[in-house]
Amino acid sequence: MDYLQINGGNKLRGSVTISGAKNAALPIIAATILSDKEVALTNLPNVVDIRTLLKLLTMLGGEVDHHETVAKVNNGSITSTKAVYEIVSQMRASILVLGPLLTRFGECEVSLPGGCAIGQRPIDLHLTALEAMGAQIEIKGGYVRAEAPNGLKGAKIIFDKITVGGTENIVMAAAMAKGTTTILNAAKEPEIVQLCEMIADAGVKIEGIGTSELSIEGTDGKPLEFKEVEIIPDRIEAGTYLCAGAISNSTITLDKVNPEHIRSSIDKLESMGCTFDIGKDSVTIHPADELKPVNLITIEYPGFPTDMQAQFMAVAALAKGESLIEERLFENRFMHVSELNRLGADIWLKGSTAAVKGVDLFYAADVMATDLRASSALVLAALVAEGTTNVRRIYHLDRGYDNLEGKLSALGADIVRKKEEA
Ligand code: UD1
Repeated sequence: MDYLQINGGNKLRGSVTISGAKNAALPIIAATILSDKEVALTNLPNVVDIRTLLKLLTMLGGEVDHHETVAKVNNGSITSTKAVYEIVSQMRASILVLGPLLTRFGECEVSLPGGCAIGQRPIDLHLTALEAMGAQIEIKGGYVRAEAPNGLKGAKIIFDKITVGGTENIVMAAAMAKGTTTILNAAKEPEIVQLCEMIADAGVKIEGIGTSELSIEGTDGKPLEFKEVEIIPDRIEAGTYLCAGAISNSTITLDKVNPEHIRSSIDKLESMGCTFDIGKDSVTIHPADELKPVNLITIEYPGFPTDMQAQFMAVAALAKGESLIEERLFENRFMHVSELNRLGADIWLKGSTAAVKGVDLFYAADVMATDLRASSALVLAALVAEGTTNVRRIYHLDRGYDNLEGKLSALGADIVRKKEEA
């Protein structure tokens, strides 16, 4: 198993190019199932989750030609509609094949993803919405078995809770359904906007893109023909590098980024004393003279993202004063707290809120990554900790960060990937 060894204290400088967004690429890869022709995808991030979902497509019988950031996918040859546990258990987002498989083939079986490190993460809202569209759904043997022999039908869906994956699944299902589907209380993250635009570019009429009310006129079973899709920049990777600048007191420029998508992170870092130069597709962060504490609540886009909570906690842990961080989306997303405390942070948890008392310095220690974003918070802390920190279980990081150690080394960090001795 690999781990990262980081000698803290180096100042960072220079620029870093932001990769394509994992969370945009995953639904877009799933959406290729809506077509029986070749679809070209570019600017894919080079991360494990992307390879896992492409592997799932090949297991279904699709043809995938994937090299680093580019993939050509042809799902004209799909022979199976079963997404097996071995893949879904590696990556929850595999559930995104449910809507497209069901709407194109009238049946599918997808393993239930189960819980994960950050919480229970049910998929009840995906299933209720598909049922409202006429699907018959049974849960048996750990699988969701869904059928709609005569195709799905447009319906009015009101999500009880805003769900990113649920909105994506239903947008894809609706694209080939009969009639119009309206989704109220839809998620409106940039990743959903790109998915909707890809489907709209294929000729499906979608109204309300980027709002919480979507209306999708389905093709009544006709497969779609997609144009080439260039994946949008990863706003969470971008936010993580902003935090790297803030925590290490460094000036860093992010290239190939959409500044609008990282507005909430920029605003919070500004309130902590950092300053910014914002270009059309670049952002430069200048460090604060002295980091001020921050109060933040995680919420749906355009609010502050839960996927940036852990990284901001690492930064806040070195601010002058006490910060309050409330996690509203996932019930168990504080696993990084005890690891940050092992590095010398002073963080107390009460329910869904963390009280973060700023300390002057982190001290190196061995720490363990617990989930994708928690891992990057530990790396950020290690960049400034006194001594050598080993961050273990970095397979979490490899799921979603494209060449993190390479990009940080290029910025001047002392970070190397090593193999655990057997
Ligand atoms: C996506 C992102 C993830 C991000 C999250 C919230 C991807 C691949 N992952 O995850 O990085 O942290 O959005 O921004 O894009 N819920 C239910 N029932 C459901 C579905 C969701 O109760 O059927 C709950 C969840 O447990 C959670 C909340 O709704 O509390 C939001 O989850 P959701 O938006 O669905 O997250 P994901 O799509 O899984």
